[in-house]
Amino acid sequence: MSDSLVVGLDVGTTKVCALVAQASEQGLNILGLGTAESRGLRKGIVVNIESTVESIHRAIKEAEAACGVSIKSVFVGIAGGHIKSFESFGATGIKGAEVSEADIERALDAAKAVYVPLDREVLHVIPVEYTIDGEGGITNPLGMSGVRLEARVQIVTGSVTAVQNLVRCCEKAGLEVLDIVLEPLASALATLTESEKEEGVVLVDIGGGTTDIAFYRDGVLQHTSVVAIGGNHITNDIAIGLRLPVDEAERIKKSYGVAVLDMESRESVDIMVAGREQKSIPIGYITEIINPRCEELFEIVKKELTEAGVYDKAAYGVVLTGGASQLRGMQKLAEAVLGMPVRMASPKGVSGLEDLINDPKYSTGVGLLLYGLDEVQQPVGYGDIFGNILKRMKDWVMGFIGGK
Ligand SMILES: Nc1ncnc2c1ncn2[C@@H]1O[C@H](COP(=O)(O)OP(=O)(O)OP(=O)(O)O)[C@@H](O)[C@H]1O
Ligand SMILES: [Mg+2]
Repeated sequence: MSDSLVVGLDVGTTKVCALVAQASEQGLNILGLGTAESRGLRKGIVVNIESTVESIHRAIKEAEAACGVSIKSVFVGIAGGHIKSFESFGATGIKGAEVSEADIERALDAAKAVYVPLDREVLHVIPVEYTIDGEGGITNPLGMSGVRLEARVQIVTGSVTAVQNLVRCCEKAGLEVLDIVLEPLASALATLTESEKEEGVVLVDIGGGTTDIAFYRDGVLQHTSVVAIGGNHITNDIAIGLRLPVDEAERIKKSYGVAVLDMESRESVDIMVAGREQKSIPIGYITEIINPRCEELFEIVKKELTEAGVYDKAAYGVVLTGGASQLRGMQKLAEAVLGMPVRMASPKGVSGLEDLINDPKYSTGVGLLLYGLDEVQQPVGYGDIFGNILKRMKDWVMGFIGGK
């Protein structure tokens, strides 16, 4: 595998996708895509190593066949309801005449000294802003003069077991994990514009098992969390409500599903009941099943944003992506529940295979490539992945925030 090739591996709840791209000064050109159905995850977390390895293997083989290269190493995404972030502060005296790396490190260490429940681990400490002698809004304090340095940070916590299981799956599939990237951040890289990130925007990536949230303002990630509800819940509601097999419920959802009540059509649709007979039901009935779940999802997103104190700070509103954002009426419902303008987004910032890639379900995969491009251009040393995972995840977010 040539050094200028970057591979993003999105291990999602419904699909595993591998994207291979050539990195050059012009940016990224996608050469190959491989996808496989995912059966080993629940709500974004690996619950069955064997089936996950199998899906990864199939996606990688397909991508290799598509572009004729052998894939050895990947940038992989992590999500799951176990990921949460909260704000913390730390302060230190500035030792010399100006702020040094060591002063910044001490301020961040102080901010990190918070209570974290035993079953959780700090994954990232993301600097949001620094304050020197009461003067806030500083993104990089290095070299500035003053007496007291304060750091405001976002602390991202998650289950280490979940990270380790994901890495183990990749390794069992014969892949080296170059880095692990939070999926909300990867999707943000592929969809958000600079002005959105500057003025304030919420990214909402609705997948199969999870909905990833990332809030940006002043060009910096200010809050991220993952809600364990996605398109699969909508499918299951239809399956239970209409007593259908999941495959048929999925087909009905994609072909006739509507998220908002006032958009439903008066027509009827034929469905297979109990795998045999056909039955005609009004489309409005399907909407009545779907609507409460979609509303619940956006209510939870609103609650998350409110609790994080960022709900009224998103001047640019919401950017909606992920496979399940394609459900008809999702944008309208999101606008109604969240009370903000909502833009639908597919991944941007790469060339090649545009027809295939221009789909909101590939936002995370393309974001992993964009992140990988940065690392290819500014390589870091890769060591023992288990030993270094937490440090490297932390370093990545620090680099990302620092305007990598
Ligand atoms: N046209 C469509 N209308 C409605 N839902 C859709 C459509 N296309 C895809 N979906 C839904 O999108 C979901 C899959 O989205 P995506 O591929 O982004 O998820 P994932 O990455 O596998 O899962 P996750 O990110 O939650 O781990 C499925 O629930 C699927 O039913
Ligand atoms: Mg996903």
